[in-house]
Amino acid sequence: MNMDEQKASDPLSEEGAGSGPAAGDSNTSAAGVNTADAAAEVAGVDTANADGEPTRLYSGIQPTGDIHIGNYLGAVANWAKLIPRYDCIYCVVDYHAITIEYDPDTMRDAILDTATMGMACGLDPDHCTFFVQSHVSETMELAWIFSTCTAIGALERMTQFKDKAAQHKQNINAGLFTYPVLQAADILGVKADGVPVGDDQSQHLELTREIARRFNHLYGPVFPDAKTLYSPAPRIMGLDGQGKMSKSQGNYIAMKDRSDTVRKKLSTAYTDPNRLRRSDPGNPDICNIFTLHKSFSSPDEVATIDAECRSAGIGCVDCKKKLGASMETAMTPIQDKYEDLTRRPDDVRDALAAGADRVRTLTSETMTEVRQSLGLR
Ligand code: TRP
Repeated sequence: MNMDEQKASDPLSEEGAGSGPAAGDSNTSAAGVNTADAAAEVAGVDTANADGEPTRLYSGIQPTGDIHIGNYLGAVANWAKLIPRYDCIYCVVDYHAITIEYDPDTMRDAILDTATMGMACGLDPDHCTFFVQSHVSETMELAWIFSTCTAIGALERMTQFKDKAAQHKQNINAGLFTYPVLQAADILGVKADGVPVGDDQSQHLELTREIARRFNHLYGPVFPDAKTLYSPAPRIMGLDGQGKMSKSQGNYIAMKDRSDTVRKKLSTAYTDPNRLRRSDPGNPDICNIFTLHKSFSSPDEVATIDAECRSAGIGCVDCKKKLGASMETAMTPIQDKYEDLTRRPDDVRDALAAGADRVRTLTSETMTEVRQSLGLR
């Protein structure tokens, strides 16, 4: 681990405050920043290896409904691909899910179901750490401490908060507001230095880095600078063509949908809106069905469909049938695996418990450092 910590002088802090011992054999160098606000500019501890490449990744998914093909292509499939290259920690973020109204009677099953589908999609607990957020209480302790390093103004600027507050006017609770603080604690509690997410999370990750820098500036170099690793997958639009595919909009194909359901959903799905008649040439560049072909069909088939759509050689009905076949090929093994796992839920629970044990150990180590740095113990 190569830790390069940069530290600024803070005119508002006491001389020497925050100059606690660096963890491990870190080097401390100075960066001349001299306004209180600029604390956020101070670079954090970098746990990345020599080329700046992250070593430990963290990401989370909410147990708020079926994992759908948008979640799969945009997040989970990518997380699975990263497992051989990094120390990957993935989480079912149930404490985040309770910030919006939910049904306690179905939550326990929803958490297990999200974990089961995650495993079926390749988050193999033998090769990564997979756990449930609420099983590690140390993270919540860190979230409290981080809330004291977070400006209210920064939280007020979060677009996800503004969107959710507008959607849930009857329940604009403080947890919805401090949601990104808990997200920072998730990531930094295990000192992850890479976070694979979609671009909708970039603002939250910017805040995570700000919190780490603020903490390091005030109390000493404890936390790394967590890089955002954007998913290479395109944003998958909803079947209704009204914005991105989302659990709450009901415009999705679930990973557990078997091929007859998939075909039925595809048959009414939105395509290139300008292609009204079978004889009209289409534009695959603006067709969500084509985007899905790129994710599920072979490169040869994608090239053929691209050409035939433009020349009106193939109609939307046939194009969707081909997509249905490609999706069946890709999704059936995952669904079989999912069904196998649902028959042995105790194995899933045991794997999640082992994952939580590891994360608890890592976060406890961080908390020991944190309490010392804060001057509490
Ligand atoms: N906020 C993320 C989302 O809505 C979920 C999440 C919670 C997360 N904690 C995280 C993602 C930590 C990455 C890292 O998708």
